[in-house]
This record gives sequence, structure tokens and C-alpha cells, in this order.
Amino acid sequence: MARKFPTHTTLACMLVFAVALFSAGFHSSAAGAPTQHKDSANSKIVVPYAPTPQRLVDRMIEFAAVKKGDVVYDLGSGDGRIVIAAAKAGARAIGFELDRQLIKESRANIAKAGLGELAEIREQDLFTVDLSAASVVTMYLFPDVVLKLKPRLLQQLKPGARIVIHDNDLGDWKPDHKEWVDGRMFFFWTVPAKPR
Ligand SMILES: C[S@@+](CC[C@H](N)C(=O)[O-])C[C@H]1O[C@@H](n2cnc3c(N)ncnc32)[C@H](O)[C@@H]1O
Repeated sequence: MARKFPTHTTLACMLVFAVALFSAGFHSSAAGAPTQHKDSANSKIVVPYAPTPQRLVDRMIEFAAVKKGDVVYDLGSGDGRIVIAAAKAGARAIGFELDRQLIKESRANIAKAGLGELAEIREQDLFTVDLSAASVVTMYLFPDVVLKLKPRLLQQLKPGARIVIHDNDLGDWKPDHKEWVDGRMFFFWTVPAKPR
């Protein structure tokens, strides 16, 4: 692999990525069973699917103090678990995803959770998302992808907006908080009042 998540990513996660990258478009679904992804050849998909563990999702949402009135964007929303956790906390939550199988699965997961009024998945390239309406942005992507998004985060998010990233930091923009959960790290920033 030319690009990898940092070495502290667990073996299980790496195995999921290896499967996603090298096994003809297969990945592990939330239920653990392999699921064929017909869109895995979509050239705009810059990071393969690997889920953030639920305990980490819950802690990210808790630490970011997600609540009613927040608008949460998950960039590359996978099976929708971050979107669902944010909606359960009372926020309006929107996931952006290109893999049609994952879009289908995540929409079904949202419906099953009874969160259809608060949660939504949009089929959209994460690099084209206008972030200005978000009060919280979450992501679990490759380091170079996160860094590529950094100017958009700084330009488009309002002061006070929160950013929560699983596994990767934002280079020289030091996080306000970082925390380990079950061997995984997440990073947290608050967008400053003045442009950086
Ligand atoms: C590592 S997974 C993270 C999934 C979820 N956010 C989580 O933390 O459980 C990254 C996701 O980004 C999606 N993705 C990759 N490139 C994308 C793009 N250009 N636009 C939208 N989604 C993308 C992948 O299909 C995958 O589901």
C-alpha cells in the first residue's frame, strides 16, 4: 500500500483495509460478513472502508458535546455509525459517501434506528462538500486526505465549530485535545475566531 493509516492502527483494521484494497472490492460489513462493493472501482473513493469502533464513536461524540442544535457532517460516512450516534445525541447529522453499497447499508441502519428525521446520507464526494453549515465535522481518513481537507476546514467552518478526527492530526494545527480509546486515538480541535 502506498498510503497507510499510522502504525498504531490495529491489526484488525489493517486486515479490513487489506481486504478492501486487494480482494477485488470486498470489505467487512458492520455485521462482519464480507459484502461486495460494486462501487469499489469508483476512482473518487480515496480511502477504503474501515469502521471506527463503536466505543470510540461514542466517545468522539461525547467529547465534542454533540447535542440538539448541532449540525454534524461525517466525511466518508461508511455504514453511518457516526451519523447515527450524532443523531442519537439530538443533532442533525449528515454523512457524505460515494460507495453505493455503503450508502444503502447506512440508510437502512438509519431507518432501523428510527432516526430518519435527523440523519441523512448524501451521495457526494467529500472534497466537494460545503462545510459552512456544519458545527461539528468528523472523519476517519488517510493522513494526506485529512491534510488536503484542512484548508477547507479553516476557510469554511465558523469560529467555534468542532472537528473530531479518528487516527490523524492536522499537521501544524495542534489539537485542543487528543485521547486514546481502546488503542485508537482521536483528535479534537475548535475552529479559532481568526483565520489561521
Ligand atoms: C475509513 S472509512 C470511515 C467510515 C466512517 N466515517 C467511520 O468512521 O466508521 C472511510 C470512508 O470514506 C469513504 N470515502 C472515500 N473516499 C470518499 C470520497 N471521495 N467521498 C466520499 N466518501 C469517500 C469510503 O467509502 C469509506 O466508507
